[in-house]
Amino acid sequence: MFNTSQVRQDFPLLTRPDSARQIYFDNACMSLKPSLVIDAMTEYYRDYPACVGRSSHHLGQLASQKVQAVRAKVAKFINASSEEEIIFTRNTTESINLVARSLGIKATDRILVSDKEHNSNLVPWQLLCQQTGATLEVLPSRADNTFDLDHFAQVITGARLVAIGHTANLDGVTVPISEIIRLAHSAGAQVLVDGAQAMLHQRLDVRALDLDYLAFSGHKMLGPTGTGVLYGKASLLNSLEPFLVGGDTVESVTYTDHKFLPVPERFEAGLQDYAGLLGLGAAIDYLSALDFSAIREHEYQLNHYLTSEVQKLAKFRLIGPEDPRQRSGVLSFYFDGVDAHQIALMLDNMSGIMIRSGQHCVHSWFHAHKLTGSARVSLAFYNTMEEAEQFIKTLTKINQIF
Ligand SMILES: Cc1ncc(COP(=O)(O)O)c(C=O)c1O
Repeated sequence: MFNTSQVRQDFPLLTRPDSARQIYFDNACMSLKPSLVIDAMTEYYRDYPACVGRSSHHLGQLASQKVQAVRAKVAKFINASSEEEIIFTRNTTESINLVARSLGIKATDRILVSDKEHNSNLVPWQLLCQQTGATLEVLPSRADNTFDLDHFAQVITGARLVAIGHTANLDGVTVPISEIIRLAHSAGAQVLVDGAQAMLHQRLDVRALDLDYLAFSGHKMLGPTGTGVLYGKASLLNSLEPFLVGGDTVESVTYTDHKFLPVPERFEAGLQDYAGLLGLGAAIDYLSALDFSAIREHEYQLNHYLTSEVQKLAKFRLIGPEDPRQRSGVLSFYFDGVDAHQIALMLDNMSGIMIRSGQHCVHSWFHAHKLTGSARVSLAFYNTMEEAEQFIKTLTKINQIF
């Protein structure tokens, strides 16, 4: 059993006097932050607000050591072979763009994405293919929105890259990532995994999965906004062209030429969000101490309850497979003929329940399915059964109004 009441003590928002009206079900958009993350950021600004990797005075050295320690923590957390495989970015979006812009894609290349990608794992590839003449192919999901591995096995031959979301923010469905990577590698293709929605719910082991690239954001895994990571196998990162260049990426420069630093620094242009990175390190400390199998079961219990109760409501339509075990902590739905934003506003006004509504940056899927949007509940380990019950009570009232 996961001890929710204990972890809730760690989150300032959940211990406020009005916490009963802070029912936060928007974790796929942004997770809450535990105190130790906020404290780590404050500590940087208070105790060693200096440049990293530039200044040799004692504050500069301390800040550099602290940031380097975060790189080591990230590497350990995802089981990378070395710290050099961890590039700090601002978010998942930037990590994906970095790969897209640095791979040296040619007109003859084929890139595969699923039909449920977040705009951040679709638009960079669309633009790149428009500019280079490469081909972008969209893999259709099965009727229940799960990944079609048989189709994938038929089309993977000859592809240069598969760029795939590990867990969809649309409906919480996780793709069979090990099989995808195995099939892709045996066909000679590389795999970039958009791990934005995975990191709060499970541990990813990049070596066990034999991942080529993994992109994720700090803010969806208890960390600060503006922090992200790109993991890449050292051999692959060494073959990429730098994407953003300038200060901190070069070893030496003349008026006519420059020599880049080795990876990862050559990809980290300009002064970084050091306070944010220290917060990310604290988030990883926090996540590292959690029991993810207990979390999975806890989120399943909540989603199972929500799913079985909402299906009693006449207008309810679910996005994704019926089985909540296949939808991580996500319940994405709409009411026939009702604006999803209206549902979200009413939940908030009536009970302080915060969900996301709209197309969740997966516009392509909604356009293809001729839907205007959905209301999306996305859970985290600190959510409780009492909150789920309050949601059902409130949604039942809303259903009666329409
Ligand atoms: C699956 C997925 N990929 C990418 C992103 C983009 O993340 P960011 O805005 O942090 O770059 C998100 C954000 O919602 C997401 O859910």
